[in-house]
Amino acid sequence: MSNRVLLVTGGAGFIGSNFVRYWLDRCPNDRVVVLDALTYAGNPANFAMLSDNPRFRFYAGRIEDSTVVNGIFRVEGITHVVNFAAESHNDRSMLEPTRLIATNVAGVSVLMEAAKAFGSERVVHVSTDEVYGEIQTGKFKETDPLLPRQPYSAGKAGGEMQVRAHNIAYGVPTVVTRGCNTFGPYQFPEKLIPFFITRAFQDKKVPVYGDGQQIRDWIHVLDHCEGIAIALENGTIGEAYNIGGIVERPNIDITKIILQTLGKGEELIKYIPDPRGKGHDQRYAVDSTKIAAIGWAPKHDFDTHLIETIHWYVNNRAWWQPILDSSDYQTFVNRYYGPGLGSDL
Ligand SMILES: NC(=O)c1ccc[n+]([C@@H]2O[C@H](COP(=O)([O-])OP(=O)(O)OC[C@H]3O[C@@H](n4cnc5c(N)ncnc54)[C@H](O)[C@@H]3O)[C@@H](O)[C@H]2O)c1
Repeated sequence: MSNRVLLVTGGAGFIGSNFVRYWLDRCPNDRVVVLDALTYAGNPANFAMLSDNPRFRFYAGRIEDSTVVNGIFRVEGITHVVNFAAESHNDRSMLEPTRLIATNVAGVSVLMEAAKAFGSERVVHVSTDEVYGEIQTGKFKETDPLLPRQPYSAGKAGGEMQVRAHNIAYGVPTVVTRGCNTFGPYQFPEKLIPFFITRAFQDKKVPVYGDGQQIRDWIHVLDHCEGIAIALENGTIGEAYNIGGIVERPNIDITKIILQTLGKGEELIKYIPDPRGKGHDQRYAVDSTKIAAIGWAPKHDFDTHLIETIHWYVNNRAWWQPILDSSDYQTFVNRYYGPGLGSDL
């Protein structure tokens, strides 16, 4: 297939910007148009290397703004949509649970309306394994109920319901992906791995929630991008696909690997009462048999690429230091973790 024009919403964020670079390499006949609101998490530096690429175009704007969205569909001749745009941070969602609804639910509906009006060939909505809630043993399958337990995951589940309704009611050709915890370069440094790397690098304490035994299912960003690409090309319309199930690790183990790789001692660990409270999911795990059946297989081994990611942050301080210096970032850290940790900034 060739000459597709992809609208990648949220393409200035972590996974979105990795996906844009990945797609332009993978499909040399396609064009990619990014729409991103450039919130605190959106960073034009994530695609600065594409500024001269004639197959790439960027628009600043919000997905819930139908005038902007419809204008882009019309002017650019969008054929496919991949929606990454979201308020994506669980911890921020605990502070402002209502704020995310505009993007994570209403914005999804606006995008679906545009896809319907302009006859999109395929729309991939990037969701998360967190919509299932927690699981003590076993792995979630796509047929399991969505039982989110945090404002962020509830918002993502709400977005999925918009997608489902537009597929069933209007025949919008949608596919949903539910990826697990993702790591790699260009991740905003408030998420666990880059937060801990950048803090430990500066000899600042790393806040471990509770006993640190929460288990996450981890995937490298390029494996996640490939899963999304395969869902776009081979996924069955109206279906959802888990992407993950590669490696499970407790947060405390990851913390120790980061400290060890940076040559830091465990005295930097600061155990704190869990700020996510009772809704903090103990374990996530997904079964990826369904996406494997349409061609997905992870290629990035966790341990090697975690260390590679740590080195990326060490070597790219010019990328993350301005973020750490920003007042938005410092306000969030102080507000969420309190002056005890915040004063370490
Ligand atoms: N990071 C993970 O571990 C993970 C795992 C599974 C699924 N996901 C999903 O993948 C997607 C991308 O996650 P990420 O980690 O790259 O997030 P991110 O926070 O790094 O990026 C989100 C991007 O969306 C943009 N955005 C926010 N609101 C917008 C709006 N209203 N209109 C347009 N753009 C807007 C932001 O500016 C930012 O560039 C999200 O939908 C998230 O739910 C993330």
